[in-house]
Amino acid sequence: MSAEIAKTLIEAAREAARNAHAPYSNFAVGAALLMTDGSIVTGTNFENASYGLSLCAETVAAARANAEGKLREIVAVGIVGGMMRGGIAHGSDPIRPCGRCRQVLNEAAQMGGRDLAVYCAGAEGDAYETHRLSDLLPHAFGPADLGIGG
Ligand code: THU
Repeated sequence: MSAEIAKTLIEAAREAARNAHAPYSNFAVGAALLMTDGSIVTGTNFENASYGLSLCAETVAAARANAEGKLREIVAVGIVGGMMRGGIAHGSDPIRPCGRCRQVLNEAAQMGGRDLAVYCAGAEGDAYETHRLSDLLPHAFGPADLGIGG
């Protein structure tokens, strides 16, 4: 069951990564969020010529879920990434969410009152890792500390 979910999310994240705007790093990232209703919300990295303004794929996906009124409904996340050559992302080493994205995902997790499954993969291949957000960001500070959510 969870293997099926992982594969579906990784596939959706890879599809999203095709739309990465990453002309500076040439590193394409895709994220796919599974919602309680079974729908999937995706995001991809969105870089900027003013480099520090760049947005990560996971953050874009979470903001997109929020814009759809579904911030509390995220149950699992698939994340993929790889260096682009010839406009296509390569590599099978799994990537894990950056620190900022872990904190952004924690906002959704605590607002929804549930831990998130996080499936991490590379741009190609069958290998993936399964994590819990609470393991990737232990002792998190979040909305619960401010008496909000969950
Ligand atoms: N990136 C993400 O989209 N998510 C992460 O968790 C790590 C990094 C993006 C940011 C930048 O566009 C590129 O990958 C290289 O750092």
